[in-house]
Amino acid sequence: MNLKRPPSMETKTVVLLSLTLLSLFSFSSSFTPTDNYLINCGSNTNTSFTPTDSRIFVADSTKQGSIFLSKGQSISLKNQNPSPNSPTLYNTARVFTAASSYKFSVKRNGTHLVRFHFSPFKAQGFDLTTAKFSVFANGNLLLRDFSTKVVVLKEYILRVDDYDLEILFSSVGDSRFGFVNAIEVFSAPKDFILDEGAKLVGKNGIEVYKNLSSHVLETVHRINVGGSKLVPFNDTLWRTWIPDEDFLVLKSAAKLAVTTQVPNYQSGGASREIAPENVYMTAQQMNRDNNQLQSRFNITWNFPVGSGGVRHLVRLHFCDIVSTSLNQLYFDVYLNEYSADNDLDLSSLTFHVLSSPMYVDYIVDSNDLGAVRVSVGPSAISSSSKVNAILNGVEIMKMVNPSRSQSGSKKGTVWIAVGSSIGGFAVLCVIVFAVILSCKCKKKKLKPRRVESAAWTPLGVYGGSTHSRMSEVTVNEYRNLKIPFADVQVATNNFDNSLIIGSGGFGMVFKGVLKDSTKIAVKRGVPGSRQGLPEFQSEIAVLSKIRHRHLVSLIGYCEEQSEMILVYEYMEKGPLKKHLYGPGCSRLSWKRRLEICIGAARGLHYLHTGSAQGIIHRDIKSTNILLDENYVSKVADFGLSRSGPCLDETHVSTGVKGSFGYLDPEYFRRQQLTDKSDVYSFGVVLFEVLCARPAVDPLLAREQVNLAEWAIQWQKKGMLEQIIDPHLAGQIKQNSLKKFGETAEKCLADYGVDRPSIGDVLWNLEYALQLQESASEPSREPHEDNNVNAPELPTPRIAPQAPSNNTETETGYGDGTSEIRNSLVFSQLMTNEGR
Ligand SMILES: *[C@@H]1O[C@H](CO)[C@@H](O)[C@H](O)[C@H]1NC(C)=O
Ligand SMILES: *[C@@H]1O[C@H](CO)[C@@H](O)[C@H](O)[C@H]1NC(C)=O
Ligand SMILES: *[C@@H]1O[C@H](CO)[C@@H](O)[C@H](O)[C@H]1NC(C)=O
Ligand SMILES: *[C@@H]1O[C@H](CO)[C@@H](O)[C@H](O)[C@H]1NC(C)=O
Ligand SMILES: *[C@@H]1O[C@H](CO)[C@@H](O)[C@H](O)[C@H]1NC(C)=O
Repeated sequence: MNLKRPPSMETKTVVLLSLTLLSLFSFSSSFTPTDNYLINCGSNTNTSFTPTDSRIFVADSTKQGSIFLSKGQSISLKNQNPSPNSPTLYNTARVFTAASSYKFSVKRNGTHLVRFHFSPFKAQGFDLTTAKFSVFANGNLLLRDFSTKVVVLKEYILRVDDYDLEILFSSVGDSRFGFVNAIEVFSAPKDFILDEGAKLVGKNGIEVYKNLSSHVLETVHRINVGGSKLVPFNDTLWRTWIPDEDFLVLKSAAKLAVTTQVPNYQSGGASREIAPENVYMTAQQMNRDNNQLQSRFNITWNFPVGSGGVRHLVRLHFCDIVSTSLNQLYFDVYLNEYSADNDLDLSSLTFHVLSSPMYVDYIVDSNDLGAVRVSVGPSAISSSSKVNAILNGVEIMKMVNPSRSQSGSKKGTVWIAVGSSIGGFAVLCVIVFAVILSCKCKKKKLKPRRVESAAWTPLGVYGGSTHSRMSEVTVNEYRNLKIPFADVQVATNNFDNSLIIGSGGFGMVFKGVLKDSTKIAVKRGVPGSRQGLPEFQSEIAVLSKIRHRHLVSLIGYCEEQSEMILVYEYMEKGPLKKHLYGPGCSRLSWKRRLEICIGAARGLHYLHTGSAQGIIHRDIKSTNILLDENYVSKVADFGLSRSGPCLDETHVSTGVKGSFGYLDPEYFRRQQLTDKSDVYSFGVVLFEVLCARPAVDPLLAREQVNLAEWAIQWQKKGMLEQIIDPHLAGQIKQNSLKKFGETAEKCLADYGVDRPSIGDVLWNLEYALQLQESASEPSREPHEDNNVNAPELPTPRIAPQAPSNNTETETGYGDGTSEIRNSLVFSQLMTNEGR
């Protein structure tokens, strides 16, 4: 941190940019949105929200029928016993008995504000507090599995690039309906959200964040710091602002600053639409009267936002109402303890006009406690007589859907890229079955995806002996992925401690047996802590779709009674590690070890390139490779915490999954995990398998502690056989060992670009197996791989193919389960939803 440098250039560029673009709007005293839809849902009378609100919410049920409602089924519901002080707007609701949508035509592209008013009541046999539903806007999931017992206003800011905006309500789970009392859809002022006007703040420092407007934002907090509550009537965009007091970490550190002077909105600064006068006329400043505090200290606000590791837009509003002349105030801004701005100088940022409103946008991830902390404190360059720091307003908006675009941060790129493919996928599925529901399951719609699998008959596949019993069970017994809590209790003998087979950040893992005597592994989230529930639910959507012979599959879940439970197929022989070293290790043969590595590589290959595409496991190690009763290896623990530090990791501050000894060294240089990071970790596993020792063994001599370094040394000397597992002595064919050693070595290359893809690794392992088996099966005509540096061989025995889309089956093993099971899972969900 360079504390001595003049007012941050970065801030200047960003703010100047906003200044120029916003100039058009600064002086409009009242804002008239181009698109402006205010709907009084389920009502046949127009009404205003409050008596002082001049805006009229238009009835959506007219004599001619419902207006704006484009499809589906819905009814109007009227509260017969409204409470006397409830607004008339809330006395009616539209109740959606099937997936239905409102459709608004959009005159001007760009950012829009969308608000939903929910005020549940009971009438005509409907109890709106029992409704549970999701809401989408042009395919973007806004609200997932929403239900409420109290009045709730939800606000979203989203870009509409279409000729209309379709808002779809779709009930979920056992709920048979959704509802809404009022909807607002209106155009935001131009440049309300600037694409490159925000700074990404985090441990990598500060970077410009790109394509901000492509995100859907959900307002979480809107605070009038140092001021009173502002209602829609007081705000040009009909927003509600609340006081900051309850969020102050140390109330005595802050002192109110209030002015009666109307702020100098100027061309280039914030406009009234960015925030109204009242926000800029009050602030909190350092309470220097407090003798308990040092001369320099921060004022800190803690804003709970739900879960940790979720990206938020933080918009801070400033207006220097505390200085008597220019250039007195220099302060620093911190977000979640990261430096966000140094030596912020409001005078120069507002072109030397005092009391001139401005704002700065920051992007930051919520911290491990699920909060965003905002601190302001005096900067090092402020003179000791004028030590101060202020804040006038705060808005915090959750970035709802990951954008498909690149962020400034490299690390962000990975997370976003991964997250978006998942998020998009999950959303797609939900929409697809919402559509299907509303079309009353016209089968034709799904046909195109299935063409390639026409030749498979499900019975043939599941009856086949190649597959474990689990697949039959999965298909026949668990049509519905939801497993009643009672069944899980019975299966695990009410979570008997003696059945614990593992534990992790997520909670405990129990062994269990279902009524039909299927063995299961039950991952139980810490009961009562429903933190990460949305992530949990999206995980299920993803995990239930990932089916592969070499991936441990999810067979069900349970989210009753504040429980979050994942049920997986049970892997009889446990983790690979257990078979390699330590007490009771099973001394696997070389061939078996190769087969296990090949299986794991196949699973990983599917994660990287298969239908879910681009999933980085991030924690490949010998404890995450499990063996079934036939020693078929399966990769476990993928999925969780992929799209953010959720579930598994609420308490891990780095946000990096990954284990010591397996972690890609490139991560330390570039803070970036890629599919090549998985390849690195896999390389460590390969040496672990060969040498039968842990990736890190602190008890060994210094040069041996780290397996990757140690093994590479011997490999480079061409003397790898010196350090192999003694139990393998005399078992491994020279050329098989050579191939294996080279492959592992390549995986451990310092730079990701120099490492092979997992597909190449798989290929090479297949070849090592072939070399091993060749002598005993001379008919196979093995290649004598004499030339170490020879270009790779022509057609391999079993070519690992990059599956092209959802409908691929795996070449070679080709059991086709992924496809068939997907479609079954899919129809199960449909049936479930349709009930
Ligand atoms: C409600 O307002 C709309 C739009 O201003 C108008 O067309 C409609 O006639 C009004 N309905 C009633 C019942 O006043
Ligand atoms: C609005 O978006 C539509 C759809 O992308 C596009 O065809 C149209 O040209 C856009 N209009 C403007 C004014 O940008
Ligand atoms: C993201 O921004 C870049 C330029 O900054 C632009 O080319 C690209 O189209 C944007 N992507 C989206 C999805 O808006
Ligand atoms: C906000 O609007 C209300 C009317 O709804 C009014 O009574 C109040 O004085 C206004 N507050 C401010 C700070 O202007
Ligand atoms: C203010 O908070 C930041 C972040 O926690 C910290 O680094 C800084 O030292 C604090 N400043 C003062 C004056 O306490």
